[in-house]
Amino acid sequence: MTCVSFVAAIDGPAGAGKSTLARKVASLLGMRYLDTGALYRAIAFSLYSRQVLPEEGPEMDAAIDDISVEILEDGLLLNGKDVGKEIRSPLVDSIVSSYAALPSVRKHLLSVQREQGKIGALVADGRDMGTVIFPDANVKIFLTASDEVRAKRRLLELRERGEDLSYEEVLQTIRERDRVDSERSAAPLRKAEGAIEMNTDALSIEEAVAELASIISERKRSVTG
Ligand code: DC
Repeated sequence: MTCVSFVAAIDGPAGAGKSTLARKVASLLGMRYLDTGALYRAIAFSLYSRQVLPEEGPEMDAAIDDISVEILEDGLLLNGKDVGKEIRSPLVDSIVSSYAALPSVRKHLLSVQREQGKIGALVADGRDMGTVIFPDANVKIFLTASDEVRAKRRLLELRERGEDLSYEEVLQTIRERDRVDSERSAAPLRKAEGAIEMNTDALSIEEAVAELASIISERKRSVTG
């Protein structure tokens, strides 16, 4: 598969800082940003709300056929509706991985994601950007952080939204998501060949943005001349 535009593919486990950093770097470098986790969250939210269990079969196929996700410049629409707030809930955190593991769900989102790579220079984040969706990406980054740091960041984010969860609960959900995302057979989370690994444990957001922006812009210069 050929990437028509310049693509920076960022993968890594939950809470490593992918979305925050990718969004900021994209804006800094004048590139578009694609949050693929939001697509899986929207589909999981829709299926769960309609009481469709995370299992392959005719019921799943029919339900998926009824789902449309439209990617906007900053967000997405699920069957025409803005579900930005709903898809970030602790409930969706705990159910999303089991829906994202289904090949039918992943297939439904494949072309939506690849289309975004043809529109203009793109920073895309997820679990399989560099391995499956954009295997020819111009630069691949694998972002990591320790379980504890990731749980602390997620807890802060949830508390800012008024959710009252304990550190232990958040840590457990993060570890369970990592396990399901890495052990599934369809597009498991793993470091793509040739990806640059970056650990964000000891970095502030500003430091991580600067490092990421420098890697991507350097590659962009070498590609575009
Ligand atoms: O990045 P996130 O935490 O918002 O992602 C939510 C879930 O979606 C994550 O647990 C796994 C799944 N996901 C995926 O399977 N593939 C992607 N490219 C992005 C997310």
